[in-house]
Amino acid sequence: MSAPKKLYIKTYGCQMNVYDSERMAETLGGQGYVETKSPDDADMILLNTCHIREKAAEKVYSELGRFKGLKADKPDLKIGVAGCVAQAEGEEIMRRQPLVDLVVGPQSYHRLPEMEAKAGQGEKVLDTDFPEEDKFEKLKRRPKAKRGPTAFLTVQEGCDKFCAFCVVPYTRGAEVSRPVDRILTEARDLVERGVREITLLGQNVNAYHGGGPSGGDWSLAQLIWELDKVDGLERIRFTTSHPNDMQDDLIEAHGSCKKLMPYLHLPVQAGSDRILKRMNRSHTAESYLRVIERIRAARPDILISGDFIVGFPEETEEDFQATLDLIEEVKYGTAYSFKYSTRPGTPAAERPQVDVAEADDRLQRLQALLTQQQKEIQDSMVGREVGVLFERAGRKPGQMVGKSDYLHSVHVEDCGREIGDLARVRIVESRTNSLAGELID
Ligand code: SAH
Ligand code: SF4
Ligand code: F3S
Repeated sequence: MSAPKKLYIKTYGCQMNVYDSERMAETLGGQGYVETKSPDDADMILLNTCHIREKAAEKVYSELGRFKGLKADKPDLKIGVAGCVAQAEGEEIMRRQPLVDLVVGPQSYHRLPEMEAKAGQGEKVLDTDFPEEDKFEKLKRRPKAKRGPTAFLTVQEGCDKFCAFCVVPYTRGAEVSRPVDRILTEARDLVERGVREITLLGQNVNAYHGGGPSGGDWSLAQLIWELDKVDGLERIRFTTSHPNDMQDDLIEAHGSCKKLMPYLHLPVQAGSDRILKRMNRSHTAESYLRVIERIRAARPDILISGDFIVGFPEETEEDFQATLDLIEEVKYGTAYSFKYSTRPGTPAAERPQVDVAEADDRLQRLQALLTQQQKEIQDSMVGREVGVLFERAGRKPGQMVGKSDYLHSVHVEDCGREIGDLARVRIVESRTNSLAGELID
């Protein structure tokens, strides 16, 4: 038998890319590939890329440039680009970087085995179609391979919302939900392999409307309740949600489903209605705040997370103040904030841009406020009892690290527990980016 070929995958961008990379690696496993942690001994290098902001896209070209020496030493080395940059700029990648053998868009991953075979014959291959078939059904799984206690599972992909700044509707295509039974089969398989926490993924995951087992579409809440029945699955999370798709049954599930964790990522982007309108967000600051209010009524201790863009075209200081006001009102446990980045082909790219220094200054002020809120909420955990799912050994002997129900990192000294154990822990200290806790017997 010949030695297995080695595959090096580097993943950029969102959790969906993390999930996709895993599925691509498993599928290429069927072609005789095993994963390697270093590009140096790889037979195939795959960059799974992100196009969301300019910097993310540029990284791809600089990373590719670094493989020049490797390819010179090993002419059989295959270099592939997958993900959202592949989708958006496939032909340009081929033109700009002759090292690249293979370009595959996010909806064509199931065709990777054939593409790899062609690349092996010395052909240059590019596939950025949006085919009709369900790629996840065609992507191979390794059912028995053991894995860590947490996993992502894509249930919905693509977006029809067309926010004026965003490339996702172009790179991932139209919104599609996977059927319920396929998700359940995949979830059960993950649990058999050691998974205890599943994060359901979608660009607009709460708009999920997959076909149910006996006809009719199911909501995300219905899917969560069905997953709640899976023995051995202890925790359920989902991301990312859109404020307009936060249905009553999902809000109720946050109040009554024990396995559904008290954490919600609900991006708002801005607090000024004028800007929200120009962003084509189709919600107002007020409607967002009312959604938060309803969620907190159902689950008072829920930790809210969000995304923000500052310096969106035509954003004034007054608009920016409205964003700070909204943050003051919500109180975020964690958040992701970005300076607006012009994306070619999106409507906002054509509009008058905000001065860069001004945008930098706003980002700093926004992040200062968010960091302060994050710290306050983290500090408020001290003295509280939380569930912790242990994910890895810590740096000190006997120390274990896991995530709390609220997704805070928690360290426990002299832990005596295994990876994959779920324990009750009392928080004793709040540190810079993590908490320290003690097991409760
Ligand atoms: N589907 C999710 C997230 C999409 S991308 C949602 O609708 O919320 C993740 C985040 O990247 C967005 O929430 C937004 O805050 C940010 N983002 C998207 N496009 C951007 C751009 N052109 N410039 C800066 N940030 C952007
Ligand atoms: Fe992008 Fe808006 Fe769709 Fe989110 S909802 S993926 S920000 S277009
Ligand atoms: Fe990036 Fe594509 Fe995800 S653009 S954020 S990798 S959907």
